[in-house]
Amino acid sequence: MKILITAGPTREKIDPVRYISNNSSGKMGYAIAQAACESGHEVTLISGPVSITPPPGVKVIKVVSAADMANAVHSNTFDADVIIMAAAVADYRPARPLDSKMKKLPGNLFLELERTEDILGTVGNNKKSGQLLVGFAAETDDLEKNALGKLERKNLDWIAANLVADGFGTDTNRITLYNRNGEKISLPVGSKLAVAHDMLKVILRNE
Ligand code: CTP
Repeated sequence: MKILITAGPTREKIDPVRYISNNSSGKMGYAIAQAACESGHEVTLISGPVSITPPPGVKVIKVVSAADMANAVHSNTFDADVIIMAAAVADYRPARPLDSKMKKLPGNLFLELERTEDILGTVGNNKKSGQLLVGFAAETDDLEKNALGKLERKNLDWIAANLVADGFGTDTNRITLYNRNGEKISLPVGSKLAVAHDMLKVILRNE
């Protein structure tokens, strides 16, 4: 099958030397790409800036911002059988990024931020029949409630939920999968590669 995966953070430019980003390491998305490749699938990985060597055999498209990631995703969804979005996409970006380095002035600085595209939401709204769409919910609170809200709102087939403390930047993960039929499957805690293999077995079992 053709599997499209997103991974890593995005960077939203403030000026030529500054940006807004987050702590995503990209490890979970890269582990899913590796697991999918090891299972014989054709994998395209759209990755924000991370310091991981891509798994061999995976086609990697490197992006920086949420807008770049959106373009890359929309250009690659048409023939994907499975789309798994593990990237930690910035929800906001500076409304007016500067071409020259910002100089400090007396007093506080107010940075106006505008919304980025909800890439997964757009893909969910335009999902083709037969396409399997999987999102991630990394939460600090109310994990199940937030994950189920995203599953519904973004028209997903599955959502992989994890607490930030259990998976963000770490080498292991604790994931619970929820699907639109009300199924809840808690995967054994393990390395991100082991969890990725378990996750693929569950989401691809009827494919
Ligand atoms: N996502 C995305 N594009 C964005 C934001 C998120 O594609 N601009 C995807 C992520 O890759 C992940 C899922 O959406 O698979 C969850 O993202 P999250 O930001 O937690 O969801 P939101 O609906 O934005 O919820 P909230 O910000 O209220 O937590």
